[in-house]
Amino acid sequence: MSDLHSDALVFFGATGDLAYKKIFPALQAMIRRGHLTVPIVGVAKSGWNLENLRARAKDSLEKHGGLDREAFDKLSRQLRYVDGDYQDPATFQTIKHELGPAQRPTHYLAIPPVLFETVIAQLAKAGCVAAPGCDGARVVVEKPFGHDLASAQELNRILHSVFSESAIFRIDHYLGKRPVNNVVTFRFANALMEPFWNRNYIESVQITMAESFGVEGRGAFYDRTGAIRDVIQNHLFQILCNLAMEPPVRLDSETIRDEKVKVLKAIPPLDEMNLVRGQFRGYCQENGVDPHSTTETFAALRLEVDSWRWRGVPFYIRAGKNLPVTCTEVLARFHRPPTAFGGCAQSRNYLRFRISPEMTIAVGATVMSPDESMDCLPVEMIASRRPNPEEMEAYERLLGDAMAGDASHFARQDYVEEAWRIVDPVLKADTAVNTYEKGAWGPPQVEERVLPPEGWNNPAAEEKTLYVAA
Ligand code: BG6
Repeated sequence: MSDLHSDALVFFGATGDLAYKKIFPALQAMIRRGHLTVPIVGVAKSGWNLENLRARAKDSLEKHGGLDREAFDKLSRQLRYVDGDYQDPATFQTIKHELGPAQRPTHYLAIPPVLFETVIAQLAKAGCVAAPGCDGARVVVEKPFGHDLASAQELNRILHSVFSESAIFRIDHYLGKRPVNNVVTFRFANALMEPFWNRNYIESVQITMAESFGVEGRGAFYDRTGAIRDVIQNHLFQILCNLAMEPPVRLDSETIRDEKVKVLKAIPPLDEMNLVRGQFRGYCQENGVDPHSTTETFAALRLEVDSWRWRGVPFYIRAGKNLPVTCTEVLARFHRPPTAFGGCAQSRNYLRFRISPEMTIAVGATVMSPDESMDCLPVEMIASRRPNPEEMEAYERLLGDAMAGDASHFARQDYVEEAWRIVDPVLKADTAVNTYEKGAWGPPQVEERVLPPEGWNNPAAEEKTLYVAA
């Protein structure tokens, strides 16, 4: 274990939904690979004991990814449980006791943000944060990082009252997805990309994150949040940065994160004229949702990245619940050739990154028709790879990175605040919310107001897969 590696993991919210769906599967996977050998302390206020937590972990694993008997036995042995109120200093004394000689614990706050201030202050008071002569503890926080710029700044103030920025790991699980990071690799590991990846050749870029399901029992959370805060300001802005950033001159976390922040700095605040919000019919009858809610379950917007590389190229982002498919895709369209060639009046190129459910990269091109005419045909060259059953899930990768002290795939303070700066004006404006039918591509107003040149690319439910690499 390196000096930078955490020597214990404490996770708050151990009996909660996130732990059940994501954290236990990630812990088991890390243990199976031999990546997690340190004590794991679950904390919650549920009146539980360690046996209840072990049973919960087992149930979680059976439902989410499968139980690995050997790894689960190890997990059970490494697991501790502290039950107690976050307001009560005794809870944190017990955590300290469970940590034993650990000097560099990672504290993972899988709890509602309103509890952060209390928990952080109590951790510091109980001496669970910094030990003299070592790097001390880290803190991992879940999105949302605030609900607007002011609240994000306040949250950062709270975090910084105890932790330095280098010890803070803000999780955006899209940064733990290989297909999202592959956008950067594909751009910078292939010299052929560079000459055309700019305003001289790219006409527009669009990102669609479609989900064919609704709010799935998360009505109360979702109604306070909406599509812009839930997935656009974070997940889709991360994809946008990967598409638009300049090549980092070094591959350390700060140099990479500097380049991403520069992209956001080049984006002017979103104008409400460039936004269409939508709500699927029936949303207000969902459990936990205000019957008069104006929260958006869909948003489409247009942004500019006002940099040397991108000035004048519109970036479109669209995300929504209850759309026709579940899929995230990027499409970059090229300008048309300056003159028509033969019968190829419609000749058109694009590059398509499919981020989920599977990763593919496709090039749209024009070829001569196989008949004897001079007609042209559009074709797609699709590169994909065989699914890798050993591939890490995002939470496993990110938790491992946080414990190893690698912040490359986490959101930095300035990034988070710049992202809020961009959407803040429209969050405060009372823009109309337009109804759409479940299973439609959002409200009809999108086609009138936020329409890429040549229209939206509606991703197909299934990719035409062709495996070309192991
Ligand atoms: C979460 C959002 O952050 O991301 C959810 O809160 C959304 O509303 C989810 O469904 C999508 O994640 P993924 O990994 O399934 O694309």
